[in-house]
Amino acid sequence: MDHDQFIERVTQYIKRTKTVDEGERKLEEFKKILTYLPGHYDEDASFIKLDEAIHESEEERGIEMGKRHRVFYMALPPSVFIPVAKGLKKNVYAKEGLNRIVIEKPFGQDSASSAHLAKELATCFTEEETFRIDHYLGKEMVKNVMMVRFANIFFSQIWNRMNIDNIQITFKEPFGTEGRGGYFDEFGIIRDVIQNHLLQVLSLIAMERPVGTDAESIRDEKVKVLKCISPISIDDVLLGQYVGANGKPGYLEDDTIKNKDSLTPTFAALVLHVQNERWEGVPFILKAGKALNEAKVEVRIQFRNVAGNLYKNAARNELVMRVQPDEAVYIKFNNKQPGLSYQTIQTELDLTYHSRYSDLSIPDAYESLILDVLRNDHSNFVRDDELEAAWKIFTPLLHKIDAHDKDIHITNYEYGSRGPMELDAFVKKYGYDRSNINYNWPIQSVAPQKN
Ligand code: BG6
Repeated sequence: MDHDQFIERVTQYIKRTKTVDEGERKLEEFKKILTYLPGHYDEDASFIKLDEAIHESEEERGIEMGKRHRVFYMALPPSVFIPVAKGLKKNVYAKEGLNRIVIEKPFGQDSASSAHLAKELATCFTEEETFRIDHYLGKEMVKNVMMVRFANIFFSQIWNRMNIDNIQITFKEPFGTEGRGGYFDEFGIIRDVIQNHLLQVLSLIAMERPVGTDAESIRDEKVKVLKCISPISIDDVLLGQYVGANGKPGYLEDDTIKNKDSLTPTFAALVLHVQNERWEGVPFILKAGKALNEAKVEVRIQFRNVAGNLYKNAARNELVMRVQPDEAVYIKFNNKQPGLSYQTIQTELDLTYHSRYSDLSIPDAYESLILDVLRNDHSNFVRDDELEAAWKIFTPLLHKIDAHDKDIHITNYEYGSRGPMELDAFVKKYGYDRSNINYNWPIQSVAPQKN
């Protein structure tokens, strides 16, 4: 690329939120602060050129010594993480300011490769300088989990095995690998989404109350709870791969998938068991799939049945935190049918963000996380010991899948469907009660029911 092609590439998706003129003016200002410098990942000369370019810019802007901070963002293929980190440390590391390095997943493929990466990176950058990005931690509703749990007395009292029956964390995408097959086929849905994004959400839901809201207190609790989760058992797994349907190509028909016999899962439902006093016996069901019927990410906490059975039709309460689309927190709730009837109807206490908050403007996850890097706030980044604990849970299962172990079964599901046909029976086995499936949301009829 040359400079102009680079500018074109990085600005093509920028949204102009203000009036057209102001938008254009801001865009032009932004372009002026961009510099493009091509180079090689493994060549000192390229890094030296980068160092000189940054130095020149610092001089031009008259930045004081001691304040010449540098943030390096490695959005790179994982195979070059280590050479680039070494090249940066040797040639570009700031001597007159602070250094920070941001790394994008994948952080290895399993426990061993992740430990190797961590060890090599640690020779270049300290843990304090390292920011491992998991963009789910920058999502508004994920950042809200701690607030909902620890700032509301009624939740803090019932957040345990005595009251909660099962918890589901679901990720659904309505498109397949389309064009990203090269990367995806090597990683699969568990490494792509579950081991990182969904597990991060789980740790926020399951952890104990931290002693404070600072980064280390929060991350200490996340590590502790991850250590209570035993490696996933093959009996607690449902895997799938999508096939063509409704005019859409199947996974193996994607041109970017080179191995036409690939057994990489594009769907997985896994059950994690948190073995501690709070959660013993409560299954955490993590589900993720590509090429499904809708786009949705949510946490669904299903409570136990009310003891005593006074009202026959009372369904189980559920607390749902919808991460996307349309952020919402709602509770499925039993209510007397308004009017003369004494029927129970299921309804909801609903906090849908766009109807509750006016002038709602939620920053993109990356926007919020990059700001955290500049502010040196590690709370929403993954710590080294957290990563180690996370890989321990998944590595034995992943190795079995990679080795096509005889106990691994991958079922097909159609592009655009809800996933493998076995899914409903699978979640039912872990206690999820779908008996309230027929209820309508958000407007309900309260006309008397016919007997
Ligand atoms: C990425 C995965 O980390 O997250 C993708 O590599 C996935 O496969 C994406 O599509 C989902 O992110 P979001 O923010 O669109 O939910």
